[in-house]
Amino acid sequence: MLRIGIIGCGKITQVRHAPEYAENSQCRLTAFYDFLPERARDLVAIYGGQAYDSVDALLDSGVDAVSVCVANADHAAVSIKALQKGVHVLCEKPMATTLADCETMARTARDNNLTLMLGHNQRLAKAHVEARKRVEAGEIGQVISFHTTFGHPGPEGWTGQKNSWFFDKNRAAFGALADLGIHKTDLLHYLLGESIISVKSTFRTLDKKFPDGTPISVDDNAFCIYRTQSGATGQMHVSWTFYGQEDNSTILYGTKGILRCYADPTYSLIVEHANGETEKLALDELTTNEKQTTGGRVSTGVIDTFIHSVLTGEKSVCDSREALKAMRVIFAAERSSLEDQEMIIEQ
Ligand SMILES: NC(=O)c1ccc[n+]([C@@H]2O[C@H](COP(=O)([O-])OP(=O)(O)OC[C@H]3O[C@@H](n4cnc5c(N)ncnc54)[C@H](O)[C@@H]3O)[C@@H](O)[C@H]2O)c1
Repeated sequence: MLRIGIIGCGKITQVRHAPEYAENSQCRLTAFYDFLPERARDLVAIYGGQAYDSVDALLDSGVDAVSVCVANADHAAVSIKALQKGVHVLCEKPMATTLADCETMARTARDNNLTLMLGHNQRLAKAHVEARKRVEAGEIGQVISFHTTFGHPGPEGWTGQKNSWFFDKNRAAFGALADLGIHKTDLLHYLLGESIISVKSTFRTLDKKFPDGTPISVDDNAFCIYRTQSGATGQMHVSWTFYGQEDNSTILYGTKGILRCYADPTYSLIVEHANGETEKLALDELTTNEKQTTGGRVSTGVIDTFIHSVLTGEKSVCDSREALKAMRVIFAAERSSLEDQEMIIEQ
């Protein structure tokens, strides 16, 4: 039975990590730590285990694996410390706030022969898994172009805090570009089975403001044009200013048809064949901020995948090597917008 610790006991821990560990029979939640001690204590009251007063105390308590669910700026330091102590890590996204830190995280896991997985749950969503199989089988032919979107009203609806760390460049480093863009960039790598090799992007703070009325210090919208190794070209729009229904759709346009993932409220995958036949599949519902903040919960599969990887030593689809590839694209997208030019990405 694996002993699990959680570092950072905020929203993602409360609605996903802790309940999903509790549902997995191969592990037990034994340790919690948060800057805010009452958050760790509240989870102990629900799940058992013990609250600790520092990262070190938690890591020295005999845990086999930890979830790192702290603010983005601390992902690297906490994850590297855990890996150096021989503890497997499931780190939330975005992996880290500098490319050098991402590389150090991946290297430390590799050198210590430990699992380092990222919370890239989009790879595990059923319609995406099915779409990947269809692309691999050549059902829509060669993918020519694509269109992926991830937009919702912003992290304040998720955390319940109007002025959260998500809006602070020093704690978050990026806004929508990495918060949501890492999910879709990594998903494109997964669905297409190839890497993005160039990006032209623009990111802006179009609407979000701090309570004093000044614009937040990170972007709230990012627009990227991506090109892959095979020449497929498409766009990603990620946004914290969709003040209505969340959009989490991805559409692939191929030489023999179209795949629509989470673009329809009923059918999570629609396959349109060039001969006019259409398949409509109701495979699952994607987790949305609203569903989780209002109590309904859809398991992401992230924790089961992590536990399996720790127990078997097998690399998961959300392994750090894949995450590193996607983070290279995000850092290139940041530079592209700042320097107003297309960036070529060495993968
Ligand atoms: N995979 C996903 O879809 C997804 C969704 C939401 C959030 N996230 C990621 O999860 C992480 C946490 O986000 P959240 O929504 O839970 O935020 P949150 O603000 O609700 O919770 C963060 C918690 O971490 C604590 N904390 C911050 N830095 C710490 C540190 N160094 N040591 C100990 N405690 C610390 C805070 O006190 C807070 O309780 C972020 O990196 C975010 O990007 C991922």
